Amino acid sequence: MTEEEPQEKQSNESSELSRRQFFVKFGATSLAVAGAGVCVFGLQYLSPSVLYEPSPTVNVGRPEHYTVGSVTLDLRHSIFVVHDQEGFYALSAVCTHLGCLSVWKPEAGVIACPCHGSSFQKDGSVIAGPAPRPLPWLKMWMSDDGSLMVDRSDIVPAHSGAVRT
Ligand code: FES
Repeated sequence: MTEEEPQEKQSNESSELSRRQFFVKFGATSLAVAGAGVCVFGLQYLSPSVLYEPSPTVNVGRPEHYTVGSVTLDLRHSIFVVHDQEGFYALSAVCTHLGCLSVWKPEAGVIACPCHGSSFQKDGSVIAGPAPRPLPWLKMWMSDDGSLMVDRSDIVPAHSGAVRT
């Protein structure tokens, strides 16, 4: 009986040690996970939360790409490039009612909004509602290399900001 006691005690100690080791490892792992979380959120906090938007100034190409009398929808930039007898101008293609993208209907000779039926003249003025305002004119100019440039953030009075040829 006396020989069994030390064995039992030793067995208890080894199981105690393994339990202790388990808790040490568990604690170390928990600390590592918490530390990693702090690092991730710390880096996220320190990095600037900046929204990178594309430049409002866009190059819509060479004038010779637009035939006289054309109204060209630039889908990527949501603008119309209009080439009339006097030159070029740019209109926003975003409907002034609720912001749908309007399209040029050559058969009718109007710019039409597919959402609620507004229609506009080539110069952006409203023919039929519910659009409350004309399509805005955007600043347009010729770059040094001869390309047409449009600043989508610069709304100009109608019949101004155009490139006259
Ligand atoms: S969004 Fe164009 S008519 Fe409503």
